[in-house]
Amino acid sequence: MKSVRKVVIPVAGHGTRVLPATKSIPKELLPLVDRPLIDYVVNEAFDAGIDHAVLVTGRNKGAIEDYFDHAFELEAGLEGKKKTDILNDVRNTIPKAGALSYTRQQAPLGLGHAIWCARQIVGAEPFAVSLPDVVMDGNTGCLAQMVEHYKKTGGNIIAVERVAPEETNKYGIVAPKGEAVGALFEMSGMIEKPAPGQAPSNLAITGRYILQPEIFDLLEKTPRGAGGEIQLTDAMDALMKEQSFYAFIYEGVSHDCGDKLGWLKANIALGLKRPEFASKLKDFLDDIS
Ligand code: G1P
Repeated sequence: MKSVRKVVIPVAGHGTRVLPATKSIPKELLPLVDRPLIDYVVNEAFDAGIDHAVLVTGRNKGAIEDYFDHAFELEAGLEGKKKTDILNDVRNTIPKAGALSYTRQQAPLGLGHAIWCARQIVGAEPFAVSLPDVVMDGNTGCLAQMVEHYKKTGGNIIAVERVAPEETNKYGIVAPKGEAVGALFEMSGMIEKPAPGQAPSNLAITGRYILQPEIFDLLEKTPRGAGGEIQLTDAMDALMKEQSFYAFIYEGVSHDCGDKLGWLKANIALGLKRPEFASKLKDFLDDIS
């Protein structure tokens, strides 16, 4: 079985749910404590043994490429002032040369289309997809846990979690095959953003996927679906007729940082985990509540 070596990260979106914060910066560069969202998502993939991230960008997203490159003036200034710790933090953001590739989605035609834009770079091998709005937090990364399962099952695996029944129209929703028990179970179908009452369950797709390359041919044929966009969920539902598909429940927490409240909560949750901030932040929260 071929191993998962690449992750596709779609970063072309406008960040509509967090405007105006994202009017002039990519939403992927919103900070969580002291690092931008994209840093967490790329490093989660590298920690899972993936060695190549393909970022599907769009216009006005050049600052993401700059984040992962040297900033010579800044580094020289820090070096001159002997600010070694900060300099090291800045340099640690730079991945190994060649570990990132960029391709552009020229028009906002949906998540499925964004993933399809990466087909030439991914080639004929299994690959992961990570949505940069979703930051996963747990003892081991979500993709690392999924890759471990994948080594035993092969096929396709997508992360899911339970949501409130009235919120199914915000997510892709899966139908488990039989009962949804344990961390990994098979599915019989999935649908993008069903109205409450029409959803097959309350198990929502949460932004981490391991997919087989046959998805690309299906994406090419997928008509526009929910919201008038080419949906990854529709192509996965078609692939499910031919290949095994598992839903995976992550042992950890997911933060939806593409949402204002979700982003605020994530900053507090991750801030409380940092030894240098934890007790002062907790005192502050106690004081103001
Ligand atoms: C996308 C996917 C959806 C998934 C969601 C998770 O939707 O299409 O299936 O549940 O991400 O965040 P979007 O949030 O881009 O509308």
